[in-house]
Amino acid sequence: MQAKAREVHVPPVLQDLRAGTAELHIALEKRLPFFSDTLDLRAFERLMRAYYGFYQPLEAALQDSGAIPADFDLVSRLKAPTLQRDLHALGANGGDFSLCRQLPAIDSAAACLGVLYVLEGATLGGQILRREIATRLSLGADNGAAFLDIYGAATGRRWRDFIEYLGSRPMDADEREAVVAAAHTTFSCFERWLESQEVLV
Ligand code: HEM
Repeated sequence: MQAKAREVHVPPVLQDLRAGTAELHIALEKRLPFFSDTLDLRAFERLMRAYYGFYQPLEAALQDSGAIPADFDLVSRLKAPTLQRDLHALGANGGDFSLCRQLPAIDSAAACLGVLYVLEGATLGGQILRREIATRLSLGADNGAAFLDIYGAATGRRWRDFIEYLGSRPMDADEREAVVAAAHTTFSCFERWLESQEVLV
């Protein structure tokens, strides 16, 4: 997609992140049911419940960690409130969402950035998923699929802003390793959680 093409400089930490998580991305992408013939409204709602069950506690853990860099605007990038609105629009009962407790450890700025790389990067794939779900289930921003287009036309710009921020932070090799480890754990915790919620193909 365009976002990558317009990246002029790929900082070392991003190179490491890509090398360290590409396989996990491919594996998870294959198991997600967005393109499955059996995905109906009911299954989409269950999938979004499972997403909420991961994003909500993970974003709360980021907020509570005290490790988010002071100059990073986390609030404008939180996605659980949008997922909650989608679930409401889909008619899901707000009281009984199960929440994931096996989350990546968030004990440093590096760990925060690794987690955020995964959550921010997922908005890029969202652009493809948004079109699929609009065609397949007639869902969009107003009736249950706002999460898939959470940044709308600003998706590419916000990704580039994130990458620029990531690349502008001075980081030694140990910190880079901690960023990649957190991203890796985020992918694997998410996959395990989705599996436990029985929403994967
Ligand atoms: C079926 C589901 C998915 C599809 C089709 C998909 C597709 C894509 C595509 C096409 C890109 C590249 C965008 C670009 O180069 O500009 C991308 C990037 C990315 N996606 Fe996904 N994705 C999916 C699910 C996910 C999920 C569930 C996560 C994490 C929770 C995720 C995390 C990422 C990350 C971190 C990147 C950035 C990679 C980089 O450029 O460094 N994706 N995805």
